[in-house]
Amino acid sequence: MSYKTLAIIKPDAVKNNLTGQIIAKITEAGFKIKAMKMVRLTKDSAGGFYEVHKARTFYNDLVEFMTSGPCVPIALEKENAVAEFRNLIGATDPADAADGTIRKLFAASKAENAVHGSDSDENAALEISHFFSRKELLENFGA
Ligand code: RTP
Ligand code: MG
Repeated sequence: MSYKTLAIIKPDAVKNNLTGQIIAKITEAGFKIKAMKMVRLTKDSAGGFYEVHKARTFYNDLVEFMTSGPCVPIALEKENAVAEFRNLIGATDPADAADGTIRKLFAASKAENAVHGSDSDENAALEISHFFSRKELLENFGA
């Protein structure tokens, strides 16, 4: 079991000034912030990040959305981080998300759904390294 996951506060939530409230929910749930930055993704970067969805009908819209404004990637640490964070954010479509979850509280639609969370330990490690340099991670996580 890994202790790390990658969250992204997506462009819709940043635009709607929800960054602070979402970070509060994350830390209240017991996650430790190990690295964080605000970035405007390029099409290449967003496309690479969601490469697994390349064949899906929503892929172009997803890349368009993820490059529409700044987002906030955050490397998080907690026991059982991947599953715990997916529980905290709720289902992909906020209409299906449980009460109290971040997507239920803050997301408008299935496409623009406020937050990302890694879906496996393996992807968490890959996604954290997509946004944070080795140097940043060594400094923050410890060697
Ligand atoms: P994420 O990767 O962002 O944490 O979301 P997820 O696992 O809950 O959902 P996933 O199936 O991986 O989809 C990635 C993102 O693509 C957008 N999407 N739009 N219009 C649609 O039907 C649709 N389906 C997915 C969402 O932004 C979703 O979070
Ligand atoms: Mg996913």
